[in-house]
Amino acid sequence: MTSSFLRAQVDIDLDAIRHNLTLLGARAPGSEVMAVVKADAYGHGALPVARAAVEAGASWLGTCSLAEALALREAGITTRLFSWLDTPDVDFAAGIAADVDLGISSLGELARVAAAGGRARVHLKIDTGLSRNGCPPAAWAELVEAAAAEPRVEVVAIWSHLACADEPDHPATDLQAKRFAEAYDVARAAGLDPKRHLANSAAVLTRPDLHFDVVRPGIAMYGLNPVPQAEDLRPAMTFRSAVALVKRVEAGESVSYGHTWTTPRDTTLALVPAGYADGVPRSLSGRMDVWLGGQRRPVAGRVCMDQLVVDCGDHEPAVGDEVVLFGAGTHGEPTAREWADKLGTIDYEIVTSMYRPRVRRRYLGERS
Ligand SMILES: Cc1ncc(COP(=O)(O)O)c(C=O)c1O
Repeated sequence: MTSSFLRAQVDIDLDAIRHNLTLLGARAPGSEVMAVVKADAYGHGALPVARAAVEAGASWLGTCSLAEALALREAGITTRLFSWLDTPDVDFAAGIAADVDLGISSLGELARVAAAGGRARVHLKIDTGLSRNGCPPAAWAELVEAAAAEPRVEVVAIWSHLACADEPDHPATDLQAKRFAEAYDVARAAGLDPKRHLANSAAVLTRPDLHFDVVRPGIAMYGLNPVPQAEDLRPAMTFRSAVALVKRVEAGESVSYGHTWTTPRDTTLALVPAGYADGVPRSLSGRMDVWLGGQRRPVAGRVCMDQLVVDCGDHEPAVGDEVVLFGAGTHGEPTAREWADKLGTIDYEIVTSMYRPRVRRRYLGERS
């Protein structure tokens, strides 16, 4: 049964996605743009975001797993897809048949891709210093030579990923860039002529020298700024709910589990039917506001599984009044960054964790 009452919903502004991607493309004018849509587009919905990104000029889409890439293909996306982090049991044949480019970090992966049948398009990953996946520099020449000699693969690119690009002065980026250049020289010496890609959002915004042939922005496309300098990015996600019940209570009444907050005066409380099952972290209890009736108002007492209570003072909201939990921040409403700062995390985690069965999604600015 679906209810028309706005219980917990994220709105995704596809015009904001298009604006941000256009901005990122303009910052890397000589490069193709690979829009990173892994993890269901950081919680924004892979398919609508992929379509909006392509409309705004992305000629590549990046996913973590082959399953994510195949879901986009099956939904009719014809753009080049690149998938980079699969588990050892994955069926590469399905990816090759669907024309998905594959990230390769080791001789073992290369052998499995070559044995999968068909001619695979591969991107060889050099570990330049993040020390997650990727081929260590000491094993790189062997991987590159094996790939160059393997007729069942086409080496499309070499690539790597940056560890600290969100801190523009961090010396690790230059070291990674140096190792990437050395890896490229080795690939050229092996007779390859691959594309290169290295830049995440932060490097798109701050390191034009690292843009190379393709850039791979993620977070900035969603409107969240990973670098210290101001950028004209528009956060695409707004998390909303609505007032479900209003009541006047007297001074001295305690609110929600544990009675951690007591009304200091007679006040009006608004019940909002969104809780930690809907993505409102319980650990924000006592230190979060919502946007209600044109201003910020504090959440009173603990956030519960399904609901929270807002202290409205002498403001009398109506049932059904909109409540914004976080949004772009342009009116003064809380933002995903504000939640992240309070929680000691990053805004990536806040938006990505909004992919929840109980939270409806609504797309604004849909064209197709
Ligand atoms: C390999 C790779 N490239 C690009 C990105 C995009 O990074 P960001 O969201 O910081 O732009 C990610 C995200 O973590 C990634 O894993």
